[in-house]
Amino acid sequence: MSATCSVFLLLLAVVASTQGANILGLFSSHSQSHLILHMSVAKTLAEAGHNVTVVSMMQPKVMHKDIHLIVVPVTEEQERTIEDQMNTMAGQKNSVFSTMFRLMNGMKVMIDSQGELLSDPRFQRIYETKFDLMIMGYFINDFQLGVANKLKVPVIIDWMAAPMPIIDWFTGNPAELPYVPILSTATHPMSLGARAQNFGKYLFMSYITNLLDSKVIGIYKENFGEGKDQPTLNELRKNISMAFVNCHLISEGPIRPMVPGLVEIGGIQVKDKADSLPKDIAEFLGKSSQGAILLSLGSNIKSSAVKPEIIQTIFKVLSGLKQNVIWKWEDLENTPGNAANILYKKWLPQDDILAHPNTKLFITHAGKGGITESQYHGVPMVALPIFGDQPGNAEVMQSAGYGLSLDLLSITEESLGEALKEVLENEKYTKAVRKFSSLYRDRPLTAKQSVLYWTEYILRHHGAPHLQSPAVHMNFVERYNIDLYLILFTFLAVIVFLLSLVLKFIWNKLRGKTITYKKIKNQ
Ligand SMILES: *[C@@H]1O[C@H](CO)[C@@H](O)[C@H](O)[C@H]1NC(C)=O
Ligand SMILES: *[C@@H]1O[C@H](CO)[C@@H](O)[C@H](O)[C@H]1NC(C)=O
Repeated sequence: MSATCSVFLLLLAVVASTQGANILGLFSSHSQSHLILHMSVAKTLAEAGHNVTVVSMMQPKVMHKDIHLIVVPVTEEQERTIEDQMNTMAGQKNSVFSTMFRLMNGMKVMIDSQGELLSDPRFQRIYETKFDLMIMGYFINDFQLGVANKLKVPVIIDWMAAPMPIIDWFTGNPAELPYVPILSTATHPMSLGARAQNFGKYLFMSYITNLLDSKVIGIYKENFGEGKDQPTLNELRKNISMAFVNCHLISEGPIRPMVPGLVEIGGIQVKDKADSLPKDIAEFLGKSSQGAILLSLGSNIKSSAVKPEIIQTIFKVLSGLKQNVIWKWEDLENTPGNAANILYKKWLPQDDILAHPNTKLFITHAGKGGITESQYHGVPMVALPIFGDQPGNAEVMQSAGYGLSLDLLSITEESLGEALKEVLENEKYTKAVRKFSSLYRDRPLTAKQSVLYWTEYILRHHGAPHLQSPAVHMNFVERYNIDLYLILFTFLAVIVFLLSLVLKFIWNKLRGKTITYKKIKNQ
């Protein structure tokens, strides 16, 4: 009897845990590296038996057979503008600020096209399904929160890195500027100069966000109308249930406060177990008795967009090594050159290659995703960053001791050769990155388990207002106690003023006395 009972309970549990919710993933970012992270979240949920529908604007590289995929690509002209912008950025040295200014120009297209998506008939079909939850990949597209409002479902935001100011703002998380660097990393403690720079970046970003905000609000009104019954975009921003952030602070730092509405899922794209490699790559790695090197300059920039001289420099150095090299190269008709130790591939299972025991070094553009995978698998790196968050990522990677970083645009055969030799031969880099790897894997819930647990938590409770920080609902003045400081300051000023009156009075009295005294004495 009790046996039947427990079998029945077990069955019930199985049924309950596989009962799928209808989940919408809205991932309209134009960056393949963002999409990989968002799709890894979607895949995790699909693997757990949820009915996941994804809308994206480019063909994703990560997929699951049960995901219903709707791809609404940008127009050719928009595609060209975005690509041009990425390519110009690859061609020259960029400071954070010039990158930001350039991004502003391309930004217009990126924002507009994410808005145009909402009225596309292919997208509109989603309103025929009764969804339970929406996950929104964030990239200046918060007007899409109107979709969740229309579907009457809770929203989770997925962000591609550690929380940046706008994600902090959505969740009421403190920004902690004195020790939490924006768009880069700093060595700690941060000097006065570094803190001033960080504060400057914060102001600049807030300025840009404000500049773009009228556009974002405009697109929201255009698509969802305005009126008494329609909540404003700001109201919807205060109704976000949770934000997933792709970071793991214990291993990458700095330790900072995180409200419960922010959940770390760093490493979500990394497979727990490597898939078997394509035959040619497996053979190539297998016979790499001297070790193998993986070279990838990322997915945003086609390798051919980097200056040919630089590519030739890299080729010369790599073809002279005893190690084998797998090189991610888009145009297989025009490779940098033939060498027995180099295998060119258009698209690589990067993660599975890094998991291979013969892979000894990763040469990377220092995109967040690649660095994460390398750290996860304990492979040291030589970084060749180009723009955006890459120089910052490379700087942290180097200062953490996981490898070396060179400026891609100014490498020489000598500098590259030396860096490769150092990282391949000096064991300290491998040791350091392996130590990180063991911390990275040691968590109460893996990244996938976190995604699953917290998504199902939001589903069970239909949102998570009880987790939300009250800071979300405070205005700027209240949030920073500015009114209180003003009152205290006024109070203090009045006291100082009164005190000075009293002192002046006493002073005058005393002086009066001395004068009288002197007068008396002189008489
Ligand atoms: C799964 O989602 C699709 C929308 O992509 C929907 O058409 C279908 O009815 C859903 N399946 C279930 C069982 O709800
Ligand atoms: C706020 O979120 C809840 C779920 O957390 C949802 O049911 C509700 O419709 C949302 N409200 C608005 C105004 O979108």
